[in-house]
Amino acid sequence: MGFGSVLKNGFTRRRFMKGALLGTGAVATGSAWEIAQAMATGKKASDVRGYGVDPGFVNIGANENPLGASPRALAAIAENLHKINRYDFGVDLPVRLNQMHGVPGVEDFKLDFGDMRSFMRFREMNRVMVTPGSGPILQALAVMAAGNGGECIEAIPGYGQVSRAFQSFQMAGKDVKVVRVPTTGDFVHDLEAMKAAITPKTTLITITNPNNPTGTVVPYEELAAFVDAVPPHATLLIDEAYIHFVRDPSYQDAVSLALERENVVVARTFSKIFGLAGMRIGYAVASQRMMDMLMLTQGFFGGGLSTLGMHAALAAMDDHEFVARTKQVVNDGKDYLSGEFDRLGLAYTPSDGNFMIVDVKRNSGRMAMELRKRGVMVRSGSGYRTREINLLGNHLRVTVGKPDELEVFVNELEDILGGPNQG
Ligand SMILES: Cc1ncc(COP(=O)(O)O)c(C=O)c1O
Repeated sequence: MGFGSVLKNGFTRRRFMKGALLGTGAVATGSAWEIAQAMATGKKASDVRGYGVDPGFVNIGANENPLGASPRALAAIAENLHKINRYDFGVDLPVRLNQMHGVPGVEDFKLDFGDMRSFMRFREMNRVMVTPGSGPILQALAVMAAGNGGECIEAIPGYGQVSRAFQSFQMAGKDVKVVRVPTTGDFVHDLEAMKAAITPKTTLITITNPNNPTGTVVPYEELAAFVDAVPPHATLLIDEAYIHFVRDPSYQDAVSLALERENVVVARTFSKIFGLAGMRIGYAVASQRMMDMLMLTQGFFGGGLSTLGMHAALAAMDDHEFVARTKQVVNDGKDYLSGEFDRLGLAYTPSDGNFMIVDVKRNSGRMAMELRKRGVMVRSGSGYRTREINLLGNHLRVTVGKPDELEVFVNELEDILGGPNQG
């Protein structure tokens, strides 16, 4: 029996028990009563324990990995703890990432520490910049693109980090403009409208694929055609933070575009599928020219990554079992949530991320606050708005947690939706 049907049966039993207990006016009889009560009222946040979460909370608000960190990464961190008094000048992680992405020339590269030319040779071939999380890539590109004035284009709802960075420049009196392009009715990037928004002043365009918070994807063919329309004076950032969760067959990663084009950058992170958000590991794939510019902001290939971060990343890349397990839990969780949203009559958007948006038919800020009081942390859609555009005012973004965490969420959501004095 699959995860979905186990939970569905659980819910059916719970609804039956609720009715039965209310109907018979059952009397409290110690732990048997508590079990019966839990079956009747459903799991609470205090009944479950998330990895890396304080007791009493269900944290499904930040698109993290609910299964914890990659066990291989944890072992690598433990094995290398004794080395943290030393600088790590190695390039193992960028070399490995170059190799994984098929960067020409790096196939058999081995750094010779005794020979400076070895570093120089790697620098010439290298197309990967590792950073503490992928956030610094987004920030660095925004700073480079806004520093002398310019315009950025980003979808709304979208992740928004680049737009916020541009706004900071605006507030500091710089001549910059933020163009937020509403997604289509299905919350997909409106590439035609984004194309139409490009001007001679455009310096940075962001496509988050899959998009956060909507979980929608841009098919590869459309993305490749869009790249052709990006003028050389603008950089296109393709943020692939959630790539590992994609199920849509029309999707393809954009690394080849970043390797072919001077002005295309792909950002990736170890925060999601590998469960290493707190370790802060991300990277960019980009052209030689872009590498040189990123080098200005990050210092060297190793960026600001710690020794432990590098070892954790290398080990996580080999943790195929953990990656497969995470995908399974996320896929099953999305299927389960879809079923429950259907049952509750709530519209949702199919997602290729490890999260989903759902229309709860009432103010999402208040709903998120009510859930928070019950120990359940989700993201309110109203955070993804500008003064003029608010497409998710009634939506929550829910990260796929462990089955029991999702059960608590659905239980509390249902209770709030059905409860008195709401709406
Ligand atoms: C779309 C997207 N890009 C980038 C990031 C930044 O992630 P990190 O800095 O942990 O790599 C996130 C984090 O949630 C994200 O959702």
